[in-house]
Amino acid sequence: MELRDFAEAILTSPDLETKLTVGSDEFTDRSPGSSRRLHEPARCDALKFAPPRSAPAMPKMGAFPDEKKRGLAHHILANHELQALEAMAWTLLAFPDAPTEFRLGVAEIMREEQRHTRMHAERASRLGICFGDYPVNCYIWKKMLSFESVLDYVAGLPLVFEGANLDHSLEFADAFRSAGDLRSAALMQTIHRDEIKHVRFGWNWLCQMAPAEADLWEIWTKHLHWPLRAIKARGNNFQRDARLEAGMPVDFVDRLEHLTEEEAKEKPFAPQE
Ligand SMILES: [Fe+2]
Ligand SMILES: [Fe+2]
Repeated sequence: MELRDFAEAILTSPDLETKLTVGSDEFTDRSPGSSRRLHEPARCDALKFAPPRSAPAMPKMGAFPDEKKRGLAHHILANHELQALEAMAWTLLAFPDAPTEFRLGVAEIMREEQRHTRMHAERASRLGICFGDYPVNCYIWKKMLSFESVLDYVAGLPLVFEGANLDHSLEFADAFRSAGDLRSAALMQTIHRDEIKHVRFGWNWLCQMAPAEADLWEIWTKHLHWPLRAIKARGNNFQRDARLEAGMPVDFVDRLEHLTEEEAKEKPFAPQE
């Protein structure tokens, strides 16, 4: 299947099943076409992006003994995965001139995002919640719309959102385990393992696309659009080994782990938020 057709099917089909199953045969990239930037992905009514602040917040992990709260957590995480899939499809359409190897790599990762979305939706339904029962937000999608180059994508999506998920995935795994939900915990462990590959992909392309001799920290942060910034690439329990396994060098991981006060603080004025 051509990458453009794959990306267009994901973004223009409102049907969830189509979004999550398209692209099972071999990918080709003979006709990437011209750049196309879609403003919003097509979604079925139940999963259309809700107005700001109308989607439920992530339940506190202390509430996870309640099955319904765990189901809601999977519902929210399924929407994160679906947005990641759509953001990657958007990138394939927006940057047809990116190296073919990069584009094929993004498509392979998209297959895993399809699988992650299904895993969360299935787990939510086991816990009594159907994917689409609650309003869903568009946080990742909206941030992605500010990407103006492939390097912006690499800096923002794999190295911030997926990077932070190295920590969040295991924080959720621990919380599910503490609530006695070993299946949900195992699901998060699987996603954690996949995320290491996805971060490695981002790191490898940052290295390849950065000018020779460039300071990679500087290139990374230069390509982040507010509110994305280094601190957003971390969760609460910093997974140092996962980042080293993803190929980040020790000094980069050290810097991320020990951000200066200046780097870690909230910006006092955030016009885009
Ligand atoms: Fe994922
Ligand atoms: Fe991922």
